[in-house]
Amino acid sequence: MPTTAADVPEHLLSDFDLYDLSICDPEDTMQERVRELAQIAPVVYCTPHGGHWFVTRYDVVNEILHSPEVFSNYPSGLLDAPPSMMLPLNSDPPEHTAYRNVLQPLFSPTRTKALQGEIRRHVTELIDGFIEKGECDFVADFAHQLPTRVFLWLMDLPREDAPLFSDLAQKAFFGKPGGTEEESNAVRVDVAQQLGAYFARVIDERRGRSLGPDSDVASIVINTPLQLDGQERPLADEELQSMLLLTLVAGLHTTQPQLAWALMYLARYRDERQRLIDDPSLLPNAVEELLRLEASAFPVRRVKHEIEIGGVTMREEDRLLLALCSANRDPSRFEDPDTMSIDRKHVAHLSFGGGRHRCIGSHIAREQLRITLEECHRRLPDYELTQPAVCHPSQARSVLSMPIRFTPGPRSGVRERAHDTTPEGARA
Ligand code: HEM
Repeated sequence: MPTTAADVPEHLLSDFDLYDLSICDPEDTMQERVRELAQIAPVVYCTPHGGHWFVTRYDVVNEILHSPEVFSNYPSGLLDAPPSMMLPLNSDPPEHTAYRNVLQPLFSPTRTKALQGEIRRHVTELIDGFIEKGECDFVADFAHQLPTRVFLWLMDLPREDAPLFSDLAQKAFFGKPGGTEEESNAVRVDVAQQLGAYFARVIDERRGRSLGPDSDVASIVINTPLQLDGQERPLADEELQSMLLLTLVAGLHTTQPQLAWALMYLARYRDERQRLIDDPSLLPNAVEELLRLEASAFPVRRVKHEIEIGGVTMREEDRLLLALCSANRDPSRFEDPDTMSIDRKHVAHLSFGGGRHRCIGSHIAREQLRITLEECHRRLPDYELTQPAVCHPSQARSVLSMPIRFTPGPRSGVRERAHDTTPEGARA
């Protein structure tokens, strides 16, 4: 029998609900609420959604991430939504290892480096879309669009499909805003069907394609055999659909808020921003610090067999949420954890998770963040928020809107190129 609230000492019980809209009010009190829970204990028990453990401290979160023999990734959702396959995310070894081996080489640091020029081209085009106005909604006009464009480019899918993907990915996460859980689930099922049908067509068209050094990610995945239990077989359509779907959803709903938060913190920490404007070589470390300060994902695990961890006994079939955003601000791990410091050394944050399921897209995400900041600092260096960002809570916490203003500038052209000191110099 899994743990119920009746089995848990009262001081460890909380009614914290990750899906409660009030925790992401205009002041975004999510971190505050999570800090209160972390101050109680490394692990507390939250009663909403059928009850689940909530893990807040760095060492415990890290241990769980590295213990797939005790903590399963299936199902990977907290809500009682129909469990859908999101491969490799909600599989366990040995299947997980086999699926991951297909995807991982496609997202290596070397392949990602080759993407820098393409990412910069999209960043430049998106900034061109609003730079003359001196204001924009940084989420709608930029942060929501960049990861979709990068996904489409990686998969060699038509750019015109960007609005379709943005819309469907949005619905996949938020269901029907303001609707009941049932209504939201119906929306999610519909989205899964639509995306499934889209990817089914792509799989059909590209199966059997001969591969070369310039092949797109989708064609490579579709035509790479799965090696499992000493045997090799083609990936089934259903498996492929779920792998392509995950790559879309995992890349969008995480990168989008991280881009917005990066600008939000640098608008607040002006001295740090000025240092980055003066010396862009500080950006890679700053990106790690920005990722540490706000982690969008709350991975879920299911307990395979009883275990004592973080001062509590978890039973078979218990579910737990890993609060990466809290682990990243654990004072026993990070000095002065709520403060942004681009000089912080060894920022070993957990925003990309850890262990076997560690984010495959981390290198691409980092490049999107670094290049975005570099270009924003070059072209709209005095950006400031005109209203607080509107955040949205969920297992992939997001930012829905973030209006900014800045001194208007010209669309990209001679002036920008003259100042281009980027190492890759791959601007289109
Ligand atoms: C800043 C942006 C991103 C953040 C914060 C992030 C975060 C994460 C986290 C925490 C996990 C682990 C989940 C778990 O342990 O259950 C994960 C897994 C994953 N991410 Fe990301 N992600 C980001 C961007 C991306 C991008 C751009 C892609 C693809 C293009 C991507 C693809 C994946 C995939 C496929 C997995 C599943 C890996 C597995 O199960 O082995 N992510 N991500």
